[in-house]
Amino acid sequence: MIKYDISVIIPTFNEAENIENIIRAVSGILTDKNITGEILVVDDDSGDGTKDIVRRLQDSISGLNFIIREEDHGLSQSVVEGFEKAQADIIQVIDADFSHPPQLIPDFYKSIKEDGFDIVIGSRYMKGGDIKNWPVKRRIISLGATAFGRVLFPEITDPVSGFFAIKKEVIANARMKPRGYKILMEVLGKGTWEKAKEIPFIFKDREEGESKLKLSTMIDYILQCTDIGVYALKNHNTYAWKEWKKIFKFGLVGASGIVVNTGILYAVTEYFGIYYMISSVFAIEASIATNFILNDTWTFDGANKSHMGSRWKRFVSFQLISVCGVGINLLVLFALTEFAGIYYLFSNIVGIFIAFAWNFLVNRHITWKNKTE
Ligand code: GDD
Ligand code: MN
Repeated sequence: MIKYDISVIIPTFNEAENIENIIRAVSGILTDKNITGEILVVDDDSGDGTKDIVRRLQDSISGLNFIIREEDHGLSQSVVEGFEKAQADIIQVIDADFSHPPQLIPDFYKSIKEDGFDIVIGSRYMKGGDIKNWPVKRRIISLGATAFGRVLFPEITDPVSGFFAIKKEVIANARMKPRGYKILMEVLGKGTWEKAKEIPFIFKDREEGESKLKLSTMIDYILQCTDIGVYALKNHNTYAWKEWKKIFKFGLVGASGIVVNTGILYAVTEYFGIYYMISSVFAIEASIATNFILNDTWTFDGANKSHMGSRWKRFVSFQLISVCGVGINLLVLFALTEFAGIYYLFSNIVGIFIAFAWNFLVNRHITWKNKTE
C-alpha cells in the first residue's frame, strides 16, 4: 500500500460541474509541492453524473479514491466516513465548489507536519479572511452559529469552517455524532488536541444556488452544541473541558466573593458604625479584589501567557468589567421587576446569571485572553 502524506477529503453531492476541476486543482497543487496525496471523494450517491466523472478520472489520476454512500445522507456523516477510510495520518477537508482555495492546502499540511499543530483551520473571521457573495442574512446566521464556539473555544475565530486539516490521532478516540454541516465543531469539541492554528482565507460562495438553511437545521445545530457541551463534561481529555473548568472555577470564586462581600458589609457596618450603603461600597470593592486575586492565580493559572502583560493592567480591566457587571445586574433586576412584574428576588437571580455570563465572557476575551500565534 502506498504511504500517503495527506488525505484530502472532498465531500460531494451533485457536483458534476465542479468535481473534475477541483480534483485536478488539488492533484496539481500536491504534485507541485512534492506531497504524495490521497484524494478521497465521499459522495452521497449523486444522480447528476458526478460519480461517472470521478470513476473516469481514477484511470489517470493516481491516489484518487472514491466512496459512494447509500445511507445516512449528510455532509458531516460523509466527512466522518472519510476520516475512517483516510489512509494518511494528516487529513484535509475541502469543499468541491471552490469556496475554499485549494492552493492553501500545502500551508495547512506544513503547519501540521513541520510546525506540529494538531488542527489547522481556514478562517473567514480573522484578519485577512473574508466572505464574498454572501447576503447579510447568511452572515448574521453564520456569526450566530459561531457564538457557541466562542464560549468553548475562545481562541478560535471560525469554529464552523468547512475548510480544515487535522492529525488523524485527534479524532482517534472521539465518539462522534455527526449531523448537519458543522463537522469542525464536533472535531474541536470531541477530539483530543492542544495546538490549533488558523489561516485566513477568502470564502467565495458558489455563483448560483441558495442557502438551504431551514429552522430544523438551526434546531439541529443547537442540539449538536448541547451534545458537545455535555460530552466535554464527561470526557476530560477534550479541550472544551479545560474551558468548562474555568467556568466552574470562576463560579466558585464568584461565590467566595459573596461571602467576602457579606462579611465586610457586616463588619464595617457593625464595628465601625458606618451607614450600610457606604459599607456596601467597601464590601463590593473588597470582593472584587479577592475575586481578582483568586481568578488571576487559580482560575486562569495560565495568565502569564495572557496578552495583558502586567497584573495591574489585568486588575484595572477586571475592575471595570465587574463594575459593568454590577450595572447589568441592577438593570435586569429593575427591568424585570418593574416592567415584567416578576418577583424581585427572582429578577435578581436572573440578573446574577446574566452578569455572571457577562463577567466570564468579557474577562475571558479581554483580561485573560490567551496569546495566540
Ligand atoms: N457527501 C455529501 N453529502 N456532501 C455534501 C452534502 C451531503 O449531504 N451536502 C453538501 N455536500 C458537499 C458539497 O458538494 C460541497 O462540496 C460541500 O459539501 C459544501 O456544500 P455547500 O452546499 O456548498 O455548502 P455551503 O457553501 O452552504 O457551506 C459551506 O460553509 C459552511 C460554513 O458557513 C461549507 O464549507 C460548510 O462545510 C461550512 O460549514
Ligand atoms: Mn459552498
